[in-house]
Amino acid sequence: MIESIKKKVTEKLKDHHKRLEHVFGVYETAIKLAQVHHLDENKVAVAALYHDYAKYDSIENQISHLDLDVIKAYIETPVIYHAFAATKALEMDFDIHDEEVLNAIRYHVWGRIGMSDIEKVILISDSCEPNRKFDDATQIYELALKDLDQACESVMKASIDYLETKGIVPAKEQMEIYIYYMEVNRGKTE
Ligand SMILES: [Fe+2]
Repeated sequence: MIESIKKKVTEKLKDHHKRLEHVFGVYETAIKLAQVHHLDENKVAVAALYHDYAKYDSIENQISHLDLDVIKAYIETPVIYHAFAATKALEMDFDIHDEEVLNAIRYHVWGRIGMSDIEKVILISDSCEPNRKFDDATQIYELALKDLDQACESVMKASIDYLETKGIVPAKEQMEIYIYYMEVNRGKTE
């Protein structure tokens, strides 16, 4: 199964070399984290390989199979559509309906409140795989080996800080998720 998923993704992203390298970087990193944290490697592998599957589809194609409430919810932040579209593709292409795998793909951009460890691993690996060159990437990976929640908070902070440098105000949902993980981590240390 994993081999045919790899083949399908490679074919889909064949004109986007850097993206394909990123996807395989996420896959390798996510597998390592899954081993360290004793998670289902197969689920992690599938989610990692498919998370950016719909990245270069037109917005029209991305939303064509999405529920109307999802389309409406992210109308101001259409970057989220590719994540939901990838889950639809996975369901249709490989008949995979495991909610944990699907959620890991759906919420890989911002995360979500109450993520499972598999979801956290995909969120984290997306931002710290070896092809990511920003300063915090290594630090986030090191943190993720020890504590997934703290690594999630760092990923979210880095992404919100990045938006700030671009003069973009983060979406309300994105901020709520970040604050939720800040609270989770404070709860652990208090
Ligand atoms: Fe990605």
